Amino acid sequence: MSEQDSHKEKHREAHPDPNQEARLESHLEGLIAVARTAREHAHAPFSNFRVGAAVRAKSGRIFTGCNVENATFGLTLCAERVAVFKAISEGERGFDAVAVVADTDTLTPPCGACRQILWEFCGDADVVLANLKGKVERYRMSALLPKPFDQSFL
Ligand code: THU
Repeated sequence: MSEQDSHKEKHREAHPDPNQEARLESHLEGLIAVARTAREHAHAPFSNFRVGAAVRAKSGRIFTGCNVENATFGLTLCAERVAVFKAISEGERGFDAVAVVADTDTLTPPCGACRQILWEFCGDADVVLANLKGKVERYRMSALLPKPFDQSFL
């Protein structure tokens, strides 16, 4: 088990959606495939932890992202936020699915900051997590970010 995985073992995992289908729909398989390719562009010289993400707009367009690290560490952007911000900056609005791919046995979930961004822009979207060995889990955003703060309070 890698160091990253043993670290993650210490943390309780949210449970995947028990109603998930045995086989993912092909559009979610496709989203994982493009996230996996995007991961190859990760700029992660400090952590060496490479992540790829993809978001599917309701229009059908897909936007990908990878993590982009920075020497100050704090300016690092996660793959999920890069994907969402690319889409928003291209004028896209409304998303229904997100894929996240990393090379970990315990599948890598979006960090807290990304969950907030995903909720605000994607709502209760499907979130599929995958690794390079073909392990996949499926969640709803509402399971990953219960009781969210969002524009409905403002
Ligand atoms: N990272 C992501 O890009 N997405 C995640 O879901 C988890 C973390 C990145 C940020 C940083 O470049 C590296 O992984 C280690 O935290």
